[in-house]
Amino acid sequence: MEKLWAGRAAKQLDQLADDFNSSIHFDQRMFEEDLTGSMAHAAMLGAKGINSPEDTEAILAGLESILADLKSGALEIDPAAEDIHMFNEAELTRRIGDAGKRLHTARSRNDQVALDLRLWLRKEIANIRALTAELIRAICDKAQDSRDAIVPGYTHLQRAQPIVFAHHLLAYGMMLERDLGRLSDAAKRVNISPLGSGALAGTTYPIDREMTAKALGMDGYTLNSIDGVSDRDFVAETCSALALLMMHLSRLSEELILWCSWEFRYVELDDAYTTGSSIMPQKKNADMAELIRGKTGRVYGNLMGILTVLKGLPLAYNKDMQEDKEGLFDSVDTAKMCLQVMTPMIATMTINRESMRNAAAKGFINATDLADYLVRKGLPFRSAYKIVGQIVAECTNKGLVLETLPLEAYQAHSELFTKDLFDAISLETCVSQRTSPGSVSAPSLDAQFAFLANAVEGL
Ligand code: ARG
Repeated sequence: MEKLWAGRAAKQLDQLADDFNSSIHFDQRMFEEDLTGSMAHAAMLGAKGINSPEDTEAILAGLESILADLKSGALEIDPAAEDIHMFNEAELTRRIGDAGKRLHTARSRNDQVALDLRLWLRKEIANIRALTAELIRAICDKAQDSRDAIVPGYTHLQRAQPIVFAHHLLAYGMMLERDLGRLSDAAKRVNISPLGSGALAGTTYPIDREMTAKALGMDGYTLNSIDGVSDRDFVAETCSALALLMMHLSRLSEELILWCSWEFRYVELDDAYTTGSSIMPQKKNADMAELIRGKTGRVYGNLMGILTVLKGLPLAYNKDMQEDKEGLFDSVDTAKMCLQVMTPMIATMTINRESMRNAAAKGFINATDLADYLVRKGLPFRSAYKIVGQIVAECTNKGLVLETLPLEAYQAHSELFTKDLFDAISLETCVSQRTSPGSVSAPSLDAQFAFLANAVEGL
């Protein structure tokens, strides 16, 4: 394919350099955005009298036909084209002749590519938000099923206090709600049009930037043409929001892996989301969760990649910026895939209430509640804490637990103990008495369900 700048150059580009320079193999996925952006630009050039009505009509019809043919597969993208922008423009001229050469008036590939990437990302952020909402819904459904499933809550991965499994799951719902917020916040800055910035300094033609921005459903246009073509903050921001989203999926994956081990046996993953071993017949491995945890690494890497590309770049456009796409595409693809696997994996997992309860019952998980019991009877918390520590030590020495230590033994530590202490430290009491806002008891669970239902409404 003859280069557009063949008029200036004394010889052809070296083949290896040409391949190296080309971005068509990855930017072709923005073909639709490139064509829609061009349609808005062409319509504006027509409306402002910069191009004639006849040329404008021909250009718009040509762009429509290219879009239809690319969608249907009737037209294949030529891998020899330098990028998707060059391909579409060359194809337009091939189809409609000289009128096609009037499309690029008052535009540069610099504002064109920035626009295309924003349009593409706007669509994908909406997709990711919808998938995230699906996962939140699956988490809430599973949490509704496990409102009464008592399980140890952990700190330092040591059994700490009894909770219900629903509360633990809903913690992930809260993380994902923040992801929704971060993504919609990023989308606000994505949805601003750089079109009309030209190569870097704007243009001498009487263009209407408001018109193109509106036609493309954007919330406004960039006010500094240099910034318009140099800014890739929106790429870094989205990569960052996706890195956090993946971190949440990775933590959930890690817990699923632990929970379905024989050491825990809190949940069982459906066979559709586990694999076996090539040698050990008994194995049921949580490969999907492990892969989600593993893929989090590349999404972090993509964030570091774009930050490093942009660091030290002089204004305005530099070819380095072509490196903005592959990492972003990969982060978007990876996050979508992981969400799509995680949601049914959560929806189909079964929970094992008995293992959860057994794990909660066997330790000294209610020791805090025993101290609180003494506090209710008038003792300062620090003193109560010390007495319970001594009781735990005595139990450990005697091979007993708080539920099996006799009342007389308790009373030797403090005469405030009466037989109602056993009720006060039952796991059910421990959970139901935690009524502080945000805690593990039923009213707090209800508040969480309502909050999350509101967050995913309409998504
Ligand atoms: N393929 C290029 C990119 O992705 C398009 C912009 C090219 N602009 C230029 N001045 N060479 O960045």
